[in-house]
Amino acid sequence: MARAREKWNSRASFLFAAIGSAVGLGNIWRFPYITYKNGGGAFLIPYAIALITAGIPLMILEYYVGHFTQSSPPIAFKKFWHKAEWAGWFAILLVFVLSTYYCTIMAWCANYFFHSFSLGWGSTAESVNSFFNNNILQLSGSPSILGGIRIPILLGLAATWIWIYLSLFKGVETLGKIVYFTVTIPWLIIIAMVVRGLTLPGAMEGIKFYLIPDFRVLLDPKVWLAAYGQVFFTLSLAMGALIVYASYLHEESDITVNAFLVGFADSATSFIAGFAVFSILGYLAQTLGVSVADVTNSSIGLAFVTYPMAISLLPVAARLFAALFFLLLLTLGIDSAFSMAEPVVESIADKWGLSKKHVLPIVCMLGFLAGLPFTTEAGLYWIDIIDNFITNYGITAIGLIECILIGYVLGAKKARSYINQVSEIKIGIWWDIFIKYITPFFLGISLVTQFIKLIMGIVKENKGYGGYPVWTTYTGFGLIIILAAASAVLAKRKGAV
Ligand code: TRP
Repeated sequence: MARAREKWNSRASFLFAAIGSAVGLGNIWRFPYITYKNGGGAFLIPYAIALITAGIPLMILEYYVGHFTQSSPPIAFKKFWHKAEWAGWFAILLVFVLSTYYCTIMAWCANYFFHSFSLGWGSTAESVNSFFNNNILQLSGSPSILGGIRIPILLGLAATWIWIYLSLFKGVETLGKIVYFTVTIPWLIIIAMVVRGLTLPGAMEGIKFYLIPDFRVLLDPKVWLAAYGQVFFTLSLAMGALIVYASYLHEESDITVNAFLVGFADSATSFIAGFAVFSILGYLAQTLGVSVADVTNSSIGLAFVTYPMAISLLPVAARLFAALFFLLLLTLGIDSAFSMAEPVVESIADKWGLSKKHVLPIVCMLGFLAGLPFTTEAGLYWIDIIDNFITNYGITAIGLIECILIGYVLGAKKARSYINQVSEIKIGIWWDIFIKYITPFFLGISLVTQFIKLIMGIVKENKGYGGYPVWTTYTGFGLIIILAAASAVLAKRKGAV
């Protein structure tokens, strides 16, 4: 028996949910440091080009897949080609693994939130570093030394999954109301942080550092890859989340306008959040009497080391801003996190005709258990390694498959005429060209260059991804292969439809 499909209760609910999924931890720490590392203001050019040539076209494609098929990814893909179901499951397993470590990072944020009230990390470079590595993570010496499970992180992880469960168990209609809060609260906090940041002495030095363009970088292919990677990550593409959200749209709902709005809102959030981050780093540099380049620490450390230190040194209300910052990360992250769990639940329920009420607690429980390795003393290393394989190889592969499925198997023209029927802004033949040639071209290049770089590292220096031992890279690849095989098994199982 086919289940009645849930629906959003308004257009705004869908928009907020889609923006909530896109806007997440990726905007506040990933975007600023990627921009800074790849030419500052000049990076906005490849970013905008990546957004237009891959981000928006693929987002339109995914909305189309959900809207047209009214199904979760495995069944949706199957409707285009009977052998494509496994690709839908592959996307679902990827987003499941992503949720396990994304929630662990949320657990770190929750711990920091509680320490905000005492500014537990202190205000010197040494104390903040040691707080992150020793108090929070108890980081072991290498990925092979797991040590024990960190109880505070474990508690944070459990709380995050309970939060996800509570957000989802009442169904899509309630979810459509929750997202009004989880989207607007972070925006209000970002505005407060930007105002606070820009009025600090030294702020302009930080902003210059963030935005002064170094146009030479545009000749470096690495920068272009970084732009495409960031666009894919930040828009939650190629993981089934958008397909599932779009499948709850009413038949007459718009596709293209929604895609443009979400793409714009997400990019604007990243750009503005950069001001909050870099203005305060400028202040930190001035307070310490060093240059901005010397206070920034790229990657995860930005949110958990450098930024907390800068907050500790604020002249007034440091505790308040510390708490606000981690509340910001938590509220930004939660709607991304539940948009990772929802596709998994929906796909299982969809295929086997089960009630989501029964599937949801099981998925939350499994997500929690699968996240346990990340709560160990080697958790940080494993998040770094697994994330590299999931986001760089997994997302790219699914993006490629989607382009082939819609661009060639179905025919881009057919999809476009459906999209234009329901949408206010009509898309032209350019969309076909992107989906058939340009987007797959960039995805293909990205897949091949990263693979070659990795192999070269192993052969030449006997080092795996990120300089970790080679066996960790094999583990990462092994995981991708296991997920692909498991997807094939799931696709083979008989379902209810
Ligand atoms: N866009 C999210 C962020 O910026 C992260 C993300 C990547 C995601 N892929 C996803 C979220 C898939 C939901 C579903 O934090």
